[in-house]
Amino acid sequence: MPFDFSTAPDRTGSDSIKWRRYAGRDVIPMWVADMDFSAPPAVLDALHARIDHGVFGYADPWPSVLEAVVEGIARDHAWRIQPEWLVWLPGVVTGFNVAVRAVGQPGDGVFTATPVYPPFLHAPANFEQRLVTTPLVNSGQRWEWNWPATEAAVADGVRLFMLCNPHNPVGRVFDRDELGRIAALAERHDLVICSDEIHCGLVLDPATPHIPIAALDEQVARRSITLMAPSKTWNIPALYCAFAIIPDPTLRARYKRAMAGIVPHVNVLGLTATEVAYRDCGPWREALIATLRSNAARVVEAINALPGLSTTPVEATYLAWIDCRDWLAAKGIDNAARHFEQAGVGLSDGKDFGLPGFVRLNFGCPAARLEEGLARIRRAVTG
Ligand SMILES: Cc1ncc(COP(=O)(O)O)c(C=O)c1O
Repeated sequence: MPFDFSTAPDRTGSDSIKWRRYAGRDVIPMWVADMDFSAPPAVLDALHARIDHGVFGYADPWPSVLEAVVEGIARDHAWRIQPEWLVWLPGVVTGFNVAVRAVGQPGDGVFTATPVYPPFLHAPANFEQRLVTTPLVNSGQRWEWNWPATEAAVADGVRLFMLCNPHNPVGRVFDRDELGRIAALAERHDLVICSDEIHCGLVLDPATPHIPIAALDEQVARRSITLMAPSKTWNIPALYCAFAIIPDPTLRARYKRAMAGIVPHVNVLGLTATEVAYRDCGPWREALIATLRSNAARVVEAINALPGLSTTPVEATYLAWIDCRDWLAAKGIDNAARHFEQAGVGLSDGKDFGLPGFVRLNFGCPAARLEEGLARIRRAVTG
């Protein structure tokens, strides 16, 4: 069945956080990480059928949901997980906050590389733990790890290594060599790895397939908490359904103890959508990826043609990470996001990700809307 990503429903005046910020203003919202496209038709059909049932009592994940997730991960990421490794969660942010709580004690260090999705930066303080960071380095073509700095950082009383892969915002899919080095470092320093892989279904470049770090070998699997969800890939984040994959029974029990009494069961509509997304929505995902790949290429081409702006190829996600520092310095402007907003495009401010002078652009929208956003950015920079 052909899927249409050239148009999208009108979200103005809707409940959307992304769109409500600019209600009544001529600003194209390209910030919060959801896409403007409808969810896959098969997901909508399953939700309608579940609603028609009419009863919304407490629910636990049922066998065919487990099977869809287990088989989907085996098919798409070559990782054979066991159903009992799954811990269901209402969200991935909940999932990594629980990991911080489960692994460390007050005063312990939690490592992450910056820039990164802002809730990573706040999670340690939620449990009186210390954020320890090392910057990723832009090689010109892609963002990479600074291994000596990372090794030194984790030696500072760190218990938990928070990995974001594929990475928001730099768009990298870390390769086998990089993941192997992280696994070895975790082994040397006896760290637990919490790997947020929420964007794993959105790899744009077939040359860089997603490898779950826990799939490298049994040794790293034993010290890993992998977080996944259907929410980014199939654009259903407000259905609040995610899961942790924890192969080690002791770590899994510790994790569940940290959830007790605080983390609610998953919403039944989220589970309904999850089953269908993982089982039946591969063709929709492929068609989406073709659209995102073409949007990503447009963003890279248009941004790198502008004086003082630059970006790197997007290996995964629908997010582009744009360096505005040369342009800001040349024009004497201090805040790129504010400047672009005044020009009619709403982008995320890099400062929130730990790197001021950058903005993040969400290109999960029809090509015509993206073109208008890029035209506004061009006018803001060259006008
Ligand atoms: C890396 C990353 N993790 C987690 C989330 C949010 O996850 P959830 O809505 O399931 O809490 C996002 C959303 O942008 C994200 O980019």
